[in-house]
Amino acid sequence: MYGGVAAVKELSLIVCRGEFLTILGPSGSGKTTALMLLAGFISPTNGDILVGGKSVASVPSYRRDQGIVFQSYALFPHLSVRRNLEFPLEMRGVKAAERADRVANLLARVHLDNFGDRMPSQLSGGQQQRVALARALIADPPVLLLDEPLGALDRNLREQMQSEIKTLHKEFGITTVCVTHDQEEALTLSDRIIVMRGGAIEQIDTPEGLYDRPKSLFVANFLGEANLLNGVIPLPNDATPTSMLSIIRPERIRLAVPHAPTLADAHQRQQANGVVTEVIYAGALRKYNVQVGNNVLIMREHVASDQQVFRPGDQVRLDWLRSDVRLVATETNNGVE
Ligand SMILES: Nc1ncnc2c1ncn2[C@@H]1O[C@H](COP(=O)(O)OP(=O)(O)OP(=O)(O)O)[C@@H](O)[C@H]1O
Ligand SMILES: [Mg+2]
Repeated sequence: MYGGVAAVKELSLIVCRGEFLTILGPSGSGKTTALMLLAGFISPTNGDILVGGKSVASVPSYRRDQGIVFQSYALFPHLSVRRNLEFPLEMRGVKAAERADRVANLLARVHLDNFGDRMPSQLSGGQQQRVALARALIADPPVLLLDEPLGALDRNLREQMQSEIKTLHKEFGITTVCVTHDQEEALTLSDRIIVMRGGAIEQIDTPEGLYDRPKSLFVANFLGEANLLNGVIPLPNDATPTSMLSIIRPERIRLAVPHAPTLADAHQRQQANGVVTEVIYAGALRKYNVQVGNNVLIMREHVASDQQVFRPGDQVRLDWLRSDVRLVATETNNGVE
């Protein structure tokens, strides 16, 4: 609780040893607060936090064996990069020669070999972020807590650092909890992802599980895009029309000319007729908007040289496998909007 505000209302989770767990959610959903609770910078008003079976709720943050990267990469401004990295080792009484070795090794890992003597103010945002990551890893902690660790990096460097984090995670086996609002980052890095909404867990699952079996429209839209099929196809008999929605992912829909020959697996498919309203070419993907009755369905396909390309105004037939349709809840367990 912050004053009268419950930033995190309900959070019950077990992080497995060596796991890479990502907390994903929109701005203000309580991600940083959840991480700060884990880090020991704030204490829970109710509840407990255990590491290796022991309660750490009353152990101050600096006594815990953990590496942390804050959302705002808080380096010591008056210390050089090298001294920033050495500091956690000095605190642990590591000898000078070993400190120098470890610093050199980690600076190389984050591609900052020649930056040891710079001051933080002489670094770009992305470079500071990489120093912060190196500093979090330097004492070889069993637990790593990251809050938007790659937020200040451009796309290329971000992808490079993502694979570096993944390699470091595998190599050191560090139990990692990472906060992000970047869905691609979450999907790429994580063993499991928590989707947070309004201070509570909306869903927790593996990347594939979340993408393929979202339990609510919120999760489906937060992780990818979803087409609503209510009004296009009937709901299954056992579904309540007011609380359930049928959805399908854009890449699961196929487009064809209206009188294309029926395929062998037609009995496993559903179809609808529509008119193309928009075509967006995006390099590797082509995105179509198709008006079907009162709905607009979006559809994405990988661009290939032998496929038929449709134009706005074209009549088309859409079809998809019944097994690709998902039923999701309009409302969620915690009932937050
Ligand atoms: N010190 C504070 N005092 C009062 N309210 C706070 C405080 N810190 C955070 N909050 C509120 O708690 C809620 C959750 O904040 P939190 O920082 O955990 O969000 P977040 O998911 O990390 O968002 P972002 O993606 O923007 O970083 C927000 O509504 C925020 O305004
Ligand atoms: Mg935050």
